[in-house]
Amino acid sequence: MTSDQIRESFLKYFESKSHLRVSSSSLIPVGDPTLLLTTAGMVQFKSYFTGQSEPPSKRLTSSQKSFRVVDIDEVGDDTHLTLFEMLGNFSIGDYFKKEAVIFALDFFISVLELPKDNFVATVHHDDNETANIWKDNGIPTDKIFIFGDEDNWWGPAGLEGPCGPCSELHYDRGAEKGCGQQDCGPNCSYLQKGSDLLCDRYVELWNLVFMQFYHHIDGTRTTLPSPSVDTGLGLERLAAVMQDVKSVFDTDIFVPLLNTIVKITGLEYGIDSNSTYSMRVVAEHARSASFLLADGVVPGNEGRGYVLRRIIRRAIRHGLKLGLNKPFLGEIYRVVASQMGVAYPELRQHQDFIL
Ligand code: SER
Repeated sequence: MTSDQIRESFLKYFESKSHLRVSSSSLIPVGDPTLLLTTAGMVQFKSYFTGQSEPPSKRLTSSQKSFRVVDIDEVGDDTHLTLFEMLGNFSIGDYFKKEAVIFALDFFISVLELPKDNFVATVHHDDNETANIWKDNGIPTDKIFIFGDEDNWWGPAGLEGPCGPCSELHYDRGAEKGCGQQDCGPNCSYLQKGSDLLCDRYVELWNLVFMQFYHHIDGTRTTLPSPSVDTGLGLERLAAVMQDVKSVFDTDIFVPLLNTIVKITGLEYGIDSNSTYSMRVVAEHARSASFLLADGVVPGNEGRGYVLRRIIRRAIRHGLKLGLNKPFLGEIYRVVASQMGVAYPELRQHQDFIL
């Protein structure tokens, strides 16, 4: 399946389960001064979770453009991106844990036809209820892993907001992709940058957050009006699994961008590790800069403008390493716009400004 088909099948699936399809919100969060950029699908729904405003439906679904500043310097390896699309289904005081688990398994197994045996789940150490729900739905005990707050508690986005324990589905790509250590499992420590061994076995795909609390700026927590669900499934990672490729850069999302870079540099992709890394940086940052510009961010000395300036500078620095000493980002933007302009029309509407 192409990434467009995966996105559409996700949104259609949740529409068939009575969810209202909502467009992605801007990368510039509205009414949330504690958040620099939109980092997740739930950001535009914060006031629904808190009861401050009424949702158009208690069940919502979206594909949200999201930006994670913390990952800028990691971009170039197999997995990190600054901009990604987060597919999500949301229950605002409607269904809770059981339905969230059943929907997730049903979408992966019945719709995408991924093998059930390849999934493992993680749950928060205080959340036996969700562990039992996974078991009742065919995930055996030895494939349910328990973690603490660091891995299985989500939120708030920014300094305050809804939060709660979460449960994740990871995809097992097989022991031959692993580090070979006895304790290898989801969140394997050899996934971490800087470790001697590399582990590509488990890919974290879907995070199901059981929103129950509001985290206040002073660190206290109060209970939300009603238990709710916020899920996030990374489209690029899912595309890598569906297309059976090693890295997000080998999916249909990035191949056309990398092909353009191959064309303008005259270099080959995937031969030399330094130039491969630089090509990935140029492709990813050109894409994310295009999206930031499409939402009206301009390069500057602080805040979002500085994020944009950093990624443009990093793209140019890596472009120079590839021998690109004339402007080249505009050419890559055109490919981004032709590829993603249907799902994100702002990429085409603001062409002149972006260029
Ligand atoms: N908010 C959660 C996340 O970002 C699930 O969408 O992972």
